[in-house]
Amino acid sequence: MAIKILTEHINKPGIETFDVYRSTGGYAAVEKALKMTPEETVEEVKKSGLRGRGGAGFPAGMKWSFLAKPEGKPRYLVCNADESEPGTFKDRYLMANSPHTLIEGMIVSSYALGAKTSYIYVRGEMLYVIRILEKAIAEAYAKGFLGKNILGTDYSLDLYVHPGGGAYICGEETALLESLEGKRGNPRNKPPFPAVSGLYACPTVVNNVETISAVSWIINNGGEEYAKIGIGRSTGTKLISACGNINKPGVYEIELGVPVEEFIYSDEYCGGIAKGKKLKAVVAGGSSVPILPANLIVKTANGESRLMTYESLSDGGFATGTMLGSGGFIVFDEDQCIVRNTWNFSRFYHHESCGQCSPCREGTGWMERVLHRIEYGHGHTHDIDLLVDVAKKIEGNTICPLGDAAAWPVGSAIRHFRDEFEWHIKHPHEATKKGAVYRQEAVLV
Ligand SMILES: Cc1cc2nc3c(=O)[nH]c(=O)nc-3n(C[C@H](O)[C@H](O)[C@H](O)COP(=O)(O)O)c2cc1C
Repeated sequence: MAIKILTEHINKPGIETFDVYRSTGGYAAVEKALKMTPEETVEEVKKSGLRGRGGAGFPAGMKWSFLAKPEGKPRYLVCNADESEPGTFKDRYLMANSPHTLIEGMIVSSYALGAKTSYIYVRGEMLYVIRILEKAIAEAYAKGFLGKNILGTDYSLDLYVHPGGGAYICGEETALLESLEGKRGNPRNKPPFPAVSGLYACPTVVNNVETISAVSWIINNGGEEYAKIGIGRSTGTKLISACGNINKPGVYEIELGVPVEEFIYSDEYCGGIAKGKKLKAVVAGGSSVPILPANLIVKTANGESRLMTYESLSDGGFATGTMLGSGGFIVFDEDQCIVRNTWNFSRFYHHESCGQCSPCREGTGWMERVLHRIEYGHGHTHDIDLLVDVAKKIEGNTICPLGDAAAWPVGSAIRHFRDEFEWHIKHPHEATKKGAVYRQEAVLV
């Protein structure tokens, strides 16, 4: 049985309460960390090799060490619980079922960073999660793990839950900080990075729910032990939210390094493709990462087994690889239409573009409209190259990576499924029939 760091006790009745969480060894990391210096705590996280689980995979310990030296200004830790990327639903699962896992991680991480006030910024629509967290935070205050002089030490911490503005862009860390300050959630120009000038222009670390939650285990067991789990620079475990045409959709905690094929077909995870169909494609890390056809998701272009790690999933670059991203694993069977799905994703990104940067504001709308006309039988052959051109002009030309996130699904769908786009354009009557789908037998697995 694979090791579980975040979800070992998640099915234990009452785990959402302080007492049951405590009975499983909960809050031991707070007791241990408070006997260490903040620098020692940061050092353990560095040794663990833990990488940010929000999407970019930046090493958490390194990010923490960038935090500007204390100079009388407050320092903040902000937990990014916005989770609005289509296909990603792991953070809410963890917070709703075991809120104290995150709260304990927040206390230990805040102590390491010297933060005396910390925030959990939760997507506004997830009201049930906000209520669960607030109840758990009240319990932690009552038991002396939050508030003044935690466990009789000099360290004090206030922790707040902040409901988000209900926009995907508020998950981008600087837009999140703007929103937390009560402004419209528009991303900031960088530099300065939040580590230097973040919340209220003070040094700030923004980390994902899963990243922060893993810190307690690291403190309890040591960074070196954590680094032994996983493969290479992909250390530890990762929560994967799996959905689409699989037999067992859900959230799985995997040890990094599980072969993708095993993840899709084994009964321990997705349980294979539903209704005995063939696998057509996978979006492995949330809607923004490049889609890969079935043959390339199970094996790299070199014929090696593709693994669930940062490195293996990106093997081959964007030509034949993708990204682990946030772990939103969306599976498409042979009956799914790639054109329709790409249009659907584009509609989302157009709707969610904040409008600050022209390439993203205008380009996402263009892509959506062109994809719409292809899907509905009014496309022209040159539309395919037009889409590639627009996507290229957005990529890398915006303040924040939402532009890239909008461009990659379009570029990759055309790269790997160009035939399907051409078929839509050349056979508009057939393509627009309900349930019609073009099958590229060569890529099916
Ligand atoms: C449009 C957009 C939306 C994002 N949404 C989230 C999100 O919901 N949760 C998250 O942790 N990171 C999200 N990110 C990434 C954050 O900007 C940031 O990299 C992350 O919170 C850092 O935490 P980590 O280092 O622990 O991964 C988003 C980025 C972009 C560009």
